[in-house]
Amino acid sequence: MPLEVRTTVNRLVSEHSHLAWSPAGGAAILVDPGSDVARLLAGVEALGRPLEAILLTHRHHDHTAGVAAVADATRAVVYGPWDGPGIDQVRDDQVLSLECGPVEVIATPGHTPESVCYRGDGVLFTGDTLFVNDCGVVPDAAAALALRRSLHETLAALPGDLVIYPGHNYGGISATLEEIRQGNDAMAPRSDAEFLRWFELES
Ligand SMILES: [Fe+2]
Repeated sequence: MPLEVRTTVNRLVSEHSHLAWSPAGGAAILVDPGSDVARLLAGVEALGRPLEAILLTHRHHDHTAGVAAVADATRAVVYGPWDGPGIDQVRDDQVLSLECGPVEVIATPGHTPESVCYRGDGVLFTGDTLFVNDCGVVPDAAAALALRRSLHETLAALPGDLVIYPGHNYGGISATLEEIRQGNDAMAPRSDAEFLRWFELES
C-alpha cells in the first residue's frame, strides 16, 4: 500500500520536509527535518502516530537544521548517509525495516558525494538530487558527471509510477517519475560532455 505523505515547506529557504506513513498503520517517518521545528512537531502530533525514524538525504543545513530538536522531542532514530554524532549511517542498497514498511537506500552522489534517495512503497524522496523540473547544483565537473549517472542511470531505471518528493519546489511539490522523465530537461539522455555543457548553460 503506497505511503501517504504530507509535505511541510519550511521558512528558511522553502526547503521541504516530508512526513510519511503507511495507511495500514504503524509509526511515521520524517525526511529532512528543516528549519520549522515547531511546525514539524505539530505535524507529527496531529498525525497521531509516533515518529520512528528521521531520514536524511544529505548534510546541507537547510535539510538538517531541525534534526536534533525533532529527534530529542520524538526519540526517533536518525538515519543518514554519513558518519556523524547521533546518526545511524546508511549505505547504498540498504533496506531499513520500519513500521511504515521497507525503505530502500539508493546512493545518488552528485549534489553532495554522500547524497542518497529513499524509496518506500510507491514513493521516492530525492532531496536535492532531482526536482520536478530541475536537478541539484554541483560544485565541479566531476560532481556533475556523478550526478548525471545518478539521474540517467540510477533514478531513470526506477518504475515510472513512483511518486517523487524532492527537497525543494522547482516545478512542483511532487510528480511521478514518468512525468519527470517526460518534462524535466535534466533527465534528457545526454553524454557526459553534453551534460556538462547543458549544466553550464543552466547554472
Ligand atoms: Fe542541498
